[in-house]
Amino acid sequence: MPPLATTIQAHGTSGKDGLLVKLLHVVGARPNFMKAAPVLRAGRGARGLEQVLVHTGQHYDRAMSDTFFSDLDLPEADENLGVGSGSHAEQTARIMLGFEPVLDRHRPDWVVVYGDVNSTVACALVAVKKGIQVAHVEAGLRSRDRAMPEEVNRLLTDQIAHLLLTPSRDGDANLVAEGIPASRIRFVGNVMVDTLLHLRDRARERQMARSLGVAGGDYAFVTLHRPSNVDESQPLRELLGSLDDLSRRMPVLFAVHPRTRKRIAEFGMESLMERVRLLEPLGYLETISLLDTATLVLTDSGGLQEETTVLGVPCLTARPNTERPVTITEGTNRLVPSDRVAVGRAIEAVLASRAAGEFRPGRPEGWDGKAAERIIQALCHDL
Ligand code: UD1
Repeated sequence: MPPLATTIQAHGTSGKDGLLVKLLHVVGARPNFMKAAPVLRAGRGARGLEQVLVHTGQHYDRAMSDTFFSDLDLPEADENLGVGSGSHAEQTARIMLGFEPVLDRHRPDWVVVYGDVNSTVACALVAVKKGIQVAHVEAGLRSRDRAMPEEVNRLLTDQIAHLLLTPSRDGDANLVAEGIPASRIRFVGNVMVDTLLHLRDRARERQMARSLGVAGGDYAFVTLHRPSNVDESQPLRELLGSLDDLSRRMPVLFAVHPRTRKRIAEFGMESLMERVRLLEPLGYLETISLLDTATLVLTDSGGLQEETTVLGVPCLTARPNTERPVTITEGTNRLVPSDRVAVGRAIEAVLASRAAGEFRPGRPEGWDGKAAERIIQALCHDL
């Protein structure tokens, strides 16, 4: 692969000389939106920069997509591929087919992909094969668990992207260990934290705990959607059982992903949910508002592990591993097996630590609200 600077010159564009740099940002699924929003915002002020936003349509429900566009002040997408749901092969193939003509129309200097969802790897693959440079935001994270679709997406995207923008130093180390030259790696920090810090006050104004009648007391906030937890009946039964146990001690607010809702119905597990407060998937501001004042969070989400670390809220992650180890070493996160007894014990331990004042907001290096500025700098000026 030629050095980056050479390839950009070959395209004939460089922010340095005041010429136009065109970035095409790809979003598709819920966790992409809060990562792209600050980069688009930082780019808006940059001279000589043109930006295009493409939504693959991987997520399409109002609650999984539109709400985030309005909460995050994202501009309307310039293109929506409308791919919707399907098997991994169907979804990935539809995204690739839909994306190719969009690239031909816009001919950007860079395609910027975010995170680890199917839209990320699909669009990265189309772009590199067409000779267009790809920058991967949130590069280098590894769970070392290839049974996770996201891990496969991360590995492949990082292998083919030209510029790997990492959120934490472990990301750099992982990439170097995979033989990726240091010249392709740039540590920029965590863009999700840019969004969190930018919108925290607006989120607090939502006062979600008050509207749900749990303000001032203990409550747990829960999300679960990983295939390994919800697609098989046994781990799902264990986790729902632990929510039932916990709901005898404090209100349990469970924002249910469409995948999980479908499985609960299919497995006939509604009775385990009788004491749990079921919520529709929440918007960004509603989620942060509830996280901010929760006693504890139980999740298998990637983003919530990071957000709870910054907010200083104890988080139990129902997974055997995490691609975000700094949330454990520097933050408030603990891993717990998807097992009713183990979750119960972990909750006891969390409540004891919390009573002892052991949870404090954690700020790993580069989680400072300025990651998006560093990304724009890297894409438009440094290279
Ligand atoms: C995807 C990402 C995952 C991310 C999650 C956040 C991949 C491989 N996975 O998983 O990393 O954490 O998004 O939500 O890309 N559905 C709807 N409405 C929607 C979207 C989905 O009803 O707007 C239902 C459909 O039944 C669909 C299922 O949810 O089949 C799963 O959606 P999909 O996009 O395949 O994966 P997620 O589980 O959302």
